[in-house]
Amino acid sequence: MKRDGFNVSLWQGRPAFIPKNTTLPAGKQDVVIVGGGITGITTALQLQKAGKKCTLIEAQEIGFGTTGGTTAHLNTMMDTPYYEIRQKFNSEAADKIARLSESAITLIRSNVKEYGIDCSLSTKPGYLCAKDDKQADLLDKILQSCQEVHLPATCATSVPTPTPYIKAMQIQEQAQFHPLDYILALAQHFEAIGGHIIHDCRMTGFSEEDKLLTIQTSKGDVKADALIYATHIPPGVNMLHFLCAPYRTYAIAVKLKGDNYPDALIYDLDDPYHYFRTQEVDGERYLIAGGEDHKTGHEENTHERFKCLEAYVRKYYDVDHVAYQWSSQYYEPADGLPYIGHLPGNPDNVYVATGFGGNGMIYGTASAVILTALITKGESEYGTLLSPDRVKPMASMGNVMKEGATVTKDMITGWLSIPKLEEAAGLAKGEAKVVKYEGKTVALYKDNNGALHAVNPACPHIKCSVGWNNAEKSWDCPCHGSRFSYTGELLTGPSSSDLEKIDLREE
Ligand code: FES
Repeated sequence: MKRDGFNVSLWQGRPAFIPKNTTLPAGKQDVVIVGGGITGITTALQLQKAGKKCTLIEAQEIGFGTTGGTTAHLNTMMDTPYYEIRQKFNSEAADKIARLSESAITLIRSNVKEYGIDCSLSTKPGYLCAKDDKQADLLDKILQSCQEVHLPATCATSVPTPTPYIKAMQIQEQAQFHPLDYILALAQHFEAIGGHIIHDCRMTGFSEEDKLLTIQTSKGDVKADALIYATHIPPGVNMLHFLCAPYRTYAIAVKLKGDNYPDALIYDLDDPYHYFRTQEVDGERYLIAGGEDHKTGHEENTHERFKCLEAYVRKYYDVDHVAYQWSSQYYEPADGLPYIGHLPGNPDNVYVATGFGGNGMIYGTASAVILTALITKGESEYGTLLSPDRVKPMASMGNVMKEGATVTKDMITGWLSIPKLEEAAGLAKGEAKVVKYEGKTVALYKDNNGALHAVNPACPHIKCSVGWNNAEKSWDCPCHGSRFSYTGELLTGPSSSDLEKIDLREE
């Protein structure tokens, strides 16, 4: 399977999904869903089961985005602790998020059972560990707030990990699975009950007349009563682009020399935190470790993050070798809760689900529950709390807006000389940089054969200047997280077009 990066994740050794259809359906659809990750596929299946006629369009292929790069922790202990949700919202909100996270795991279990999906779904205990007094105080607050929202959390006397801790808590009824085995099966069942999936179909825009949407795509137009963006951040320019900050996170899957694989989901309280679990794939056991997160486009040497993560794991585990390493992207919401519901500034029948933080499997699945209720009943019990239209704290919004970086306005016309650019950039094979050349700003990459690839670094979204991600060999935008291959091809939005390619000649 393909993914939005150079590295291969533990999950990708599956054959690509082959949709039954290659062209858009001729008739009007009830709902068009954009994006073939866990959010889009679960939502499409739920809506189709509820009697809606649905088409899911995916610019690349099923699992291409973050779902193909997750570490697939199914947890009710969310990245935004319940005490923080209570402080920022209220107690009822904290309680609702706990119930929502439980319902997401319940829905995954019920889908696995109903469709007989073989995705290694298993229930595990989760552990959160504190390694010093300051972290122990934080752990106490997290534990107490988990108990206040009636989650099965207790003090832990021991944790199945060699990593250091002075205090820990345990939470029951967490789970894990193989995310691509799960969504590939859901996609199959969605088609089996009449849904359409169209690959290589990029949405380019839409218009609305009398509540009927005409959705324009690279494969033609399709009419629909409702549209859902399940693309993380939606395209265009929207308030959500200033409320959701893109982050990269890193994962490795290692083989251990011994048998010390933890039979649990384990987290520490470092900032950014580390997380561990074990997964068997095709008869082989792996320890999956994750962490080293940073804001997208704000790290000079992303490859170094893998080295740091590996060094951390090797310090405590007897590692034989690193079998896989990969990174992926998520969006951190300004106030700690995701945005699921009507997309502000758009017709009432346009919806979005984004800002999942590090809880994409849970909030992606929960989005299906919420969006299905909103579309079929006109309301959801979580609608107001998670509505993207909710009042935003201005202080948080200001912080997220500052995530932006250099804005580039240069237009690059004509062609550029390869020898002169070579001289100006001085790149070794496999290196990239943004260079100033004859008053122009050029993003250059020299591939392993010595060929230069030049693109305009101005991100087509709103012209922030992209930065090089040497781990995934991509140009990443620090403002809202668009990503592009080294040849400028769009990997993930919100941009809806490629970086401008620059014509290079030998003179
Ligand atoms: Fe918004 Fe690049 S993603 S400017």
